[in-house]
Amino acid sequence: MENQIQIFDTTLRDGEQTPGAKLNMPEKIEIAYQLEALGVNVIEAGFPISSPGDFEAVQEISKRIKNASICALTRAVVKDIDAAAEALKGAASPRIHTGIGTSDFHVYSKLNMNRTSVLEHAVAAVKYAKNYVDDVEFYAEDAGRTDNQYLARVVEAVIKAGATVVNIPDTTGFCLPEEYGAKIKYLTQNVVGIERAIISAHCHNDLGLATANAISAIENGARQIECTINGIGERAGNTSLEEVVMIMNKHARLKFLHTINSKLLFGTSQMVSELMNMPIQANKAIVGSNAFSHSSGIHQDGFLKNPENYEIISPEEVGATSSHIVLTARSGRAALTFRLKNIGYDFTREEITALYPRFLEIADKIKEVNDDNLHQMAVLVKEFSAQNSLTA
Ligand code: KIV
Ligand code: ZN
Repeated sequence: MENQIQIFDTTLRDGEQTPGAKLNMPEKIEIAYQLEALGVNVIEAGFPISSPGDFEAVQEISKRIKNASICALTRAVVKDIDAAAEALKGAASPRIHTGIGTSDFHVYSKLNMNRTSVLEHAVAAVKYAKNYVDDVEFYAEDAGRTDNQYLARVVEAVIKAGATVVNIPDTTGFCLPEEYGAKIKYLTQNVVGIERAIISAHCHNDLGLATANAISAIENGARQIECTINGIGERAGNTSLEEVVMIMNKHARLKFLHTINSKLLFGTSQMVSELMNMPIQANKAIVGSNAFSHSSGIHQDGFLKNPENYEIISPEEVGATSSHIVLTARSGRAALTFRLKNIGYDFTREEITALYPRFLEIADKIKEVNDDNLHQMAVLVKEFSAQNSLTA
């Protein structure tokens, strides 16, 4: 099986649905250029029918970005598809992303329809979108909670109608990785014509499983991952781009290929966080401020002997500046010696031993000891050394 994984970035669509994360046009364009440089294959630029701003964003990004497909979201509704097609006119590789809810929740209590009419709407939407573009992606909303047999019927029908990509969203973030992977496998084994389309994983993080589910999907036959920078998105967010990329990089035995330049991950993450006014949690995998920080004595000592003792990713691989040895009351003498050396003090073992109790006292009081504090402590060491040489 071909192992190339398409990275579909939806930071500007699902990501922008995050409360408080609204972007203006220049900001959207700046992020789109950054995503192109990062090497994503598809940029979902917006939902054109939803607002004039989204329409214009898709239009402007379509004009400018030439090294990624530009995708626009629609419901399975004629006026949505018309708007998407219009907004995508300038794109070198336009994609229309249309779809409808397929779980019984959506069919009966959201759409007030039945399974047969949902299937008919799905097929009609794909056929209609095909009048405008070759590349039509279909999403079966809430596929995570959709009965597999019915889902397979819908997927088979939309591929027959011309869908090039079939998106199987776990819209509510409900699935377990085994369950989601099994769903993808079921489709690969039970849909006639499945080899004519790419299966796409679109996962939400309501149970903290969005990344695990996306990886399970590609292990079971999906070849596109829909994700966002920093994992932002509706409610608890979407699969995080930086996480899936580094999982593929670190687990070479999986033999998945992608086109992302991992050295741009950290910078892209910072840019999106700043423009969207969405701080990154300190312990966020790959891009959090603590991702390369070591604070306990045992870890610091092991890290200083060999970084690989405690780091599976080096900061350079993702474009972060360096690892940090953070000095707290949990730090040991090795870390203290290292940090003092970094600012120019080469103390003997005895000097460090004399200083250490004072260091712990200060660290207990102020939580994190910084370089200024270290300079002050160094004066004490010098006094200690002077006294000792006088009494010797
Ligand atoms: O989560 C979801 O189901 C979506 C679709 C609109 C693709 O975002
Ligand atoms: Zn979504």
